[in-house]
Amino acid sequence: MLANKRILLIIGGGIAAFKSLDLIRRLRERGAAVTPVLTRAATEFVTPLSVSALAGEKVYSALFDLTDEAEMGHIQLSRVADLVVVAPATADLMAKMAQGHADDLASTLLLATDTPVLIAPAMNVRMWEHPATQRNLATLRGDGVRVCGPNDGDMACGEFGPGRMSEPLEIVAAIEAALSDGPLTGKRILVTSGPTHEPIDPVRYIANRSSGAQGTAIAEALRDLGADVVFVTGPAAVARPAGVTVVEVETAQQMHDAVFAALPADAAVFAAAVADWRMAQAQNSKIKKTAGGLPVLQFAENPDILAAVAQLEDGRPPLVVGFAAETDDVEANATAKRARKSCDWIVANDVSPETGIMGGAENAVTLISDSGAEVWPRMGKDAVAAELARRIAQTLS
Ligand code: C5P
Repeated sequence: MLANKRILLIIGGGIAAFKSLDLIRRLRERGAAVTPVLTRAATEFVTPLSVSALAGEKVYSALFDLTDEAEMGHIQLSRVADLVVVAPATADLMAKMAQGHADDLASTLLLATDTPVLIAPAMNVRMWEHPATQRNLATLRGDGVRVCGPNDGDMACGEFGPGRMSEPLEIVAAIEAALSDGPLTGKRILVTSGPTHEPIDPVRYIANRSSGAQGTAIAEALRDLGADVVFVTGPAAVARPAGVTVVEVETAQQMHDAVFAALPADAAVFAAAVADWRMAQAQNSKIKKTAGGLPVLQFAENPDILAAVAQLEDGRPPLVVGFAAETDDVEANATAKRARKSCDWIVANDVSPETGIMGGAENAVTLISDSGAEVWPRMGKDAVAAELARRIAQTLS
């Protein structure tokens, strides 16, 4: 799939740079050519010699190298590739990109390029979560930059949380998705998926039986048609889709914030089974079982994410799709829900236990739109996803 593709790989100065050596190998195994560029800081973590040996090509690293300018000017260098990949994308590189700085070769190439850009951020968890980095991330997304990762996990600095660079094969999947040419190429689509967990106390929570299977299949189907997918998922049972930007959340409120941070989008598909209620006050310590007394749980309403996005006056995605999991009067309830939430389509399904749909591999849906209700035959969740993605592509084209 990557045969005859050229990747301009900008390696930033972070401890994750060692993974970029493996990334080069994986890309070349798949037939891609890699033109490597090292920032000055990157040369502290990996040597130009090892990068060039693995890439089988010359390494570019300093801006004012006259020989290079004679061989290939930096403007030209920025345009020879099918895709520019920044891995690791450090907090500093992201800030430079967001601000349009051009004070070294890497940032100059990023400003001069007219090819799509994919970044794989890697940094300390606090740096990642800092509002400045999150602002830069939103700016970059708004500029059309694709983002792969970061993952949660143990970090080289001894802390735990989001900030680890994606694994080389995850970046390869994101590169393949970015280079795939389909009817949704250039479209950015937001998908929510999975259940949410609403804490009662530090050990207990309220949840539901959503597996995340349908939302995951939709994200994959949209990706396969070339879309740049942002996948906001609660704690789902199924594996996360490859080649999409995954944002992991736990509660409805976090999902709401992640969805708004991911806008703008050309379409948004709300497949998540969001908890309607959370605890009015989650307890900070475990509620004790006391003789004779039952705890009284008081609820508060969660934000309705779908309705909030569908009713946006400014920046509403042109196509907003909601789901309706019903146990009776499916069509009537879903039609009313479509009007109440102001979404364009509702994908309605019957989740009564006897259907085996919740957590199962199949789905029987009715698509409710302006043109009325259309009953689809019962089919695999993958097939439902493929058909929905095809309809989305038709509508957005
Ligand atoms: O109202 P109900 O939960 O049945 O609506 C289902 C649809 O609304 C789904 O698309 C679901 O993802 C979305 N939803 C949401 N935020 C909520 C509740 C539901 O986005 N708080």
